[in-house]
Amino acid sequence: MGQFTSEEKEAMKAEAGIAACAFVENGMKIGIGTGSTVKYTILELGRRIREEGLDVVGIPTSEATEKLSIEQGIEMVDWSNCQYLDLVIDGADEFDSDLHLIKGGGGALLREKIVAESSGGMIVVADASKKVEILGAFPLPIEVNPYGWEQTQRRIEAICEGEVVRRGPDYVTDNGNPILDAHFGPNIADPVQLEADLRSISGVVEVGLFTDTADVVVLAAPGGCELIRKPTARL
Ligand code: A5P
Repeated sequence: MGQFTSEEKEAMKAEAGIAACAFVENGMKIGIGTGSTVKYTILELGRRIREEGLDVVGIPTSEATEKLSIEQGIEMVDWSNCQYLDLVIDGADEFDSDLHLIKGGGGALLREKIVAESSGGMIVVADASKKVEILGAFPLPIEVNPYGWEQTQRRIEAICEGEVVRRGPDYVTDNGNPILDAHFGPNIADPVQLEADLRSISGVVEVGLFTDTADVVVLAAPGGCELIRKPTARL
């Protein structure tokens, strides 16, 4: 994580965020992710709308993304008049070689998962610091219902060797729910099973593990950008 300067990381975020826009074509309905990498995707889409007449509509994964997208001239639609998205472009906090992800560092995991599961393909934009052998060094965000969150925390603690910490006493997501950050450490050997185990706890609204969801990672490293495709990629 610490091997890049903040300037290098920002340049890589911009490169990945912009490169992902190559997947976007006229007439598409797109899911628009959240975070400091997708910010560059939104800016590039705005540029293409203004300069090239790109014609797309989008569904945002957070209020922050909605605000920036509208500022950039991207037409927003909502679920009352949209059943399916052609693709979603989103960031990640970590990804492994199977393209399983940890997401939710920005707190938008629930909307991000609803959007990802409604999309014909998921493109992840990431800088080289996000690539890991085994998931879990990044604390796993878990969105929980406010009712009895302390008890939900205890039940998560029963399966997490490290600390499970509420993200600030007053922090809530766009959906009004607290986030618990679970410090599993870099040893999430079976993310599919862990996602299922955590989701089976009443009180857990959504888990920041995105397993078998991403199709392509647009990975920016100091030497340039590469596309990592899952063998079963839909895009
Ligand atoms: C938002 O809740 C997250 O899932 C982000 O997509 C993730 O944290 C990546 O964000 P950055 O691009 O800012 O690192």
